[in-house]
Amino acid sequence: MMTSKATAPGKLIILGEHAVVYGKPAVALAIDKTFTCTVQKSDTMYLNNNNVNLDAHPHIKTILEIHGMKNAAITTESMIPPSSGLGSSAALSVALSAAVRKHLGKEIDEKEISKEAFEAEYTAQGRASPIDTSCSTHGKGVALNCPKNMGKHLWTLSKNSQTWDVSEVPIPNMTFVVGYTGIRAATGPLVEKVRKFREHNKFASDIVDEIGDITIEGMKAMNDNDIEKLGRIMTQDHKLLSILGVSCDELNKFVNASLPYSYGAKLTGSGGGGSMIALTDKPELVCEAIKLRGGQPFVVKTGVDGVSIDF
Ligand code: MEV
Repeated sequence: MMTSKATAPGKLIILGEHAVVYGKPAVALAIDKTFTCTVQKSDTMYLNNNNVNLDAHPHIKTILEIHGMKNAAITTESMIPPSSGLGSSAALSVALSAAVRKHLGKEIDEKEISKEAFEAEYTAQGRASPIDTSCSTHGKGVALNCPKNMGKHLWTLSKNSQTWDVSEVPIPNMTFVVGYTGIRAATGPLVEKVRKFREHNKFASDIVDEIGDITIEGMKAMNDNDIEKLGRIMTQDHKLLSILGVSCDELNKFVNASLPYSYGAKLTGSGGGGSMIALTDKPELVCEAIKLRGGQPFVVKTGVDGVSIDF
């Protein structure tokens, strides 16, 4: 039977998470940890050879519904730990959208794939920005709402009176260590926590604005190849995210342990657990420091290609 297969990368957010939900800028890099989906025709719904109810799998449900498919036999294979801050649900949605499009003989169009995957994230999370899904679709370095002279415009997405301009941005040569806490933290509740805090507290909404401002500064530093400055801004961003209440003891511990050997370090993604990243030219020392504190460190390759159809 014909099988359609697609693979999409995970991501790490260098600057701007959470604030990007409110239309502030953010920048993310695609990483060499990928998610693969296959799709086959079936009269019954199968996920990894098990008969499943799609209500427990909202990303898959949304993508199939968009394409008017009631059932399919889907298999998944992932190198990205779930709820780790590295974009596993976005990569699932992107890979599945591309595989379904191939299965139905539809065009493999980046903008359409990213739109469908964003819809799946938004439905599953309750509220979301398209940073993860855009980065997983296009790959390389992707920024949302960055100044016009800093990137090549790709497409624009809107949802509930919020608009995001998606651009590809050039990325300097950088080494990142990821420190995974092993703590699974779902994105939806953390986004909701920030929403409530921001809605009821002017101080929190000022912090969100400040994250937007320093993200622009960080993008300028990237443009100028000023890695030291970018690192300092990342650490500042971690402090602001901590004030918003989305860090945790483990993340703070790994960030502090990495700083003596790094240009900067911060949580990445929604936080609350998940992962932190360190920008460094001493990756072995950073890995050792994180491991000593009980974390799972690994060096990632960044700026990899986006979604692809596997033949
Ligand atoms: C999650 O990777 C990034 C957040 O900003 C949520 C989103 O943008 O959808 C926390």
